[in-house]
Amino acid sequence: MSNPSLLILAGDGIGPEVMAEVKKIIDWFGDRRGLVFEVEEDLVGGAAYDAHGVPLADETMARAQAVDAVLLGAVGGPAYDGLDFSVKPERGLLRLRKEMDLFANLRPAQCFDALADFSSLRREVVAGLDIMIVRELTSGVYFGEPRGIFEEGGERVGLNTQRYTESEVARVARAAFELAMKRDRRLCSMEKANVMESGILWREVVEEVAADYPEVALSHMYADNGGMQLVRNPKQFDVIVTDNLFGDLLSDVAAMLTGSLGMLPSASLGAPMENGRPRALYEPVHGSAPDIAGQGKANPCACILSFAMALRYSFDQGEEARRLERAVEQVLADGVRTPDLMQAEGGRPASTAEMGDAIVAALEASR
Ligand code: IPM
Ligand code: MG
Repeated sequence: MSNPSLLILAGDGIGPEVMAEVKKIIDWFGDRRGLVFEVEEDLVGGAAYDAHGVPLADETMARAQAVDAVLLGAVGGPAYDGLDFSVKPERGLLRLRKEMDLFANLRPAQCFDALADFSSLRREVVAGLDIMIVRELTSGVYFGEPRGIFEEGGERVGLNTQRYTESEVARVARAAFELAMKRDRRLCSMEKANVMESGILWREVVEEVAADYPEVALSHMYADNGGMQLVRNPKQFDVIVTDNLFGDLLSDVAAMLTGSLGMLPSASLGAPMENGRPRALYEPVHGSAPDIAGQGKANPCACILSFAMALRYSFDQGEEARRLERAVEQVLADGVRTPDLMQAEGGRPASTAEMGDAIVAALEASR
């Protein structure tokens, strides 16, 4: 069997810096664990726009469809703010999600013990937090038609459409139930069935899928209340499933519970390919952070933990994923801190590269 393949799209801003650290980790697994990947690299976002005039070239799209998994850094930056909407860096990412049909976006929010004091909430509210948000990623208001800015009755009208089909809801619900089965078997579905028909349908379909998962305790919450509950008592949740836009908002809220956006990975999964692996793209939840780009200040942990998710969800290497996650935990417990993790009490200041090296060293110590 040939080696599994990865396409790295480092993108813009801090993307290339954090991805450089992920490459060290990939090399370590190849050298020390016999997990060798065929790695290709290409451009996305502003970097692709600079080279090709589009945020994702057709050839890059084709490569993304051909590999076993895509690792993405981040897209966007002030240099591209003035671009036409259709060629903005974000469109590159949205095209990947849509054309690869990556309907299930897994966004874990875990609070590492060493970072429990970094949250804006009290330690006891967040310590030990371990929740998983499953965000629908290929439909809803992000993609619904009609959309646009129109002239109507002598003024401009901005229009987007929230639209979900039964099958779109059912497949992401199923993904969330499957995850819940491997965790604490509790699933909370969030929508706005009190004001939106799409929310009513969402709730009905989730209930239908629930019939196949009698061991999972299912609850429903209006998404606004869900946001409130996430900051009031986040540990009440195990798995949350929600739509594209609510998921975008709620996952940022959940991210802040853990102290730093620089720690949060994500996996975007689609249907199985011919080889049985799901179509998959892994990326940190944080953005391109242009204000700190190129200064060695970025925290590479979110991107490195995204690779851990790749090991688990694409390559069936749960043990090795745990090994990598433990190495990150160890480094944090040792006090190694990129600037986003620095607090008054100190810690060992580290650059992006030093954080990556420390994680490699912790991996080395784990053998
Ligand atoms: C995210 C981001 C993206 C989104 C942007 C960059 C298009 O906020 O992945 O959460 O809105 O989905
Ligand atoms: Mg977002």
